[in-house]
Amino acid sequence: MNPLANKHIVLGVTGGIAAYKSAELVRRLREWGAEIKVIMTDGAQQFITPLTFQALSGNTVHKNIFDDEATMAMDHIELARWADLVLIAPTTADRMARMAHGLADDLLGTICLATTATIAIAPAMNRQMWQARATQANAGRLREYGVLILGPGEGVQACGEIGPGRMLEPQDIATRVRGLFVEPLLKGISVLITAGPTREAADPVRFLTNASSGKMGYEIARAAVELGASATLVSGPVALENPVGVHRIAVTSAAEMRDAVMMHLAEKNIFIAAAAVSDYRPTDYTEKKRKKGTASMELSLALNPDILAEVTAIPNHPFAVGFAAETHDLERNAQEKRHRKSLDMIAANHVGGPEIGFESDENALSVYWEGGGAEITKASKWQVAHRLLALVAQRYHEVEDL
Ligand SMILES: Cc1cc2nc3c(=O)[nH]c(=O)nc-3n(C[C@H](O)[C@H](O)[C@H](O)COP(=O)(O)O)c2cc1C
Repeated sequence: MNPLANKHIVLGVTGGIAAYKSAELVRRLREWGAEIKVIMTDGAQQFITPLTFQALSGNTVHKNIFDDEATMAMDHIELARWADLVLIAPTTADRMARMAHGLADDLLGTICLATTATIAIAPAMNRQMWQARATQANAGRLREYGVLILGPGEGVQACGEIGPGRMLEPQDIATRVRGLFVEPLLKGISVLITAGPTREAADPVRFLTNASSGKMGYEIARAAVELGASATLVSGPVALENPVGVHRIAVTSAAEMRDAVMMHLAEKNIFIAAAAVSDYRPTDYTEKKRKKGTASMELSLALNPDILAEVTAIPNHPFAVGFAAETHDLERNAQEKRHRKSLDMIAANHVGGPEIGFESDENALSVYWEGGGAEITKASKWQVAHRLLALVAQRYHEVEDL
């Protein structure tokens, strides 16, 4: 289900450095089903081309209040009526000042006055500009007028300074927009997620591992927070940034991952095991690096703990979701694993091809539970994570209600 299906968003882009980030915002909002019509100010067009937004939104970009097409179609009234939301991202200090004073000397200003839809702005500017008394007074006035102010965030700015004024990340803005239209599915729910590979050391510099990038588990953690959950992520070694709002615990080996999971399992409602845990570990770890010498070498291996099976063996364990990375016999192998490990749900991962799976940014899943199943077709891992969590939330509530 697309949370923003049939929602009409007029996206105003104004003349700030962060304008390039709005391209990503359009993509995110469209992935959730929203229809987007973009208005660019003259300033915005100095930073990014209308063509980019036309291609990403699938609609003509509106720029000038006085061009022939716009006046014929009365763009400023039509767009104002069409909108369920007017979102301005980035919003410059100048735009805030104009809005606070009701100026209507361009298309975006006119629409802000002509619409009855909610107006949300994502300010983006240098920290001094944000903290200036005039800007703060304008922000106060806009709040009084019912304008929602999303952010700004804090951090390193394009000008090199550090402080408040950064535009929120596109994903964060998209999530807040979603929150304006739908109730978060996992509000008040606590989720524990594992992600990434594990490393099983043979000596101080060598280890056994696998090709898991951790991207799927990280996107699940990100999506869980976006859906209102509190998320704890036990992560093997990966090269990914911690998603905003996620409590991450970094581990290396399967044994460490097991211990971290057991330590953080209490009070969790849902456990999602997306990590590719090594099945085996070398038994004879050597404190010193192994020297090359003989023509062949044998490495003896011992079975690692089965974290998921240990979790489901605990009485009153959380709702447990496993992953099965399969190259063939997907349904049979996944269902067998679901039964063997007493899982509430299993997501079978199509691996083996280059387009989806471990390293890729896209994925597709076949999801099974007792008496049911669903296909999640190929999409970005973020989108797949949201679709999976929608199924998890639905099934979790059904099981809880039994
Ligand atoms: C390189 C450059 C970067 C700018 N970045 C910002 C910015 O991040 N935030 C801001 O409020 N203004 C910024 N400005 C100033 C705005 O572009 C200027 O105030 C403009 O009039 C805004 O008009 P608009 O909001 O109608 O697009 C920048 C200007 C330049 C030349």
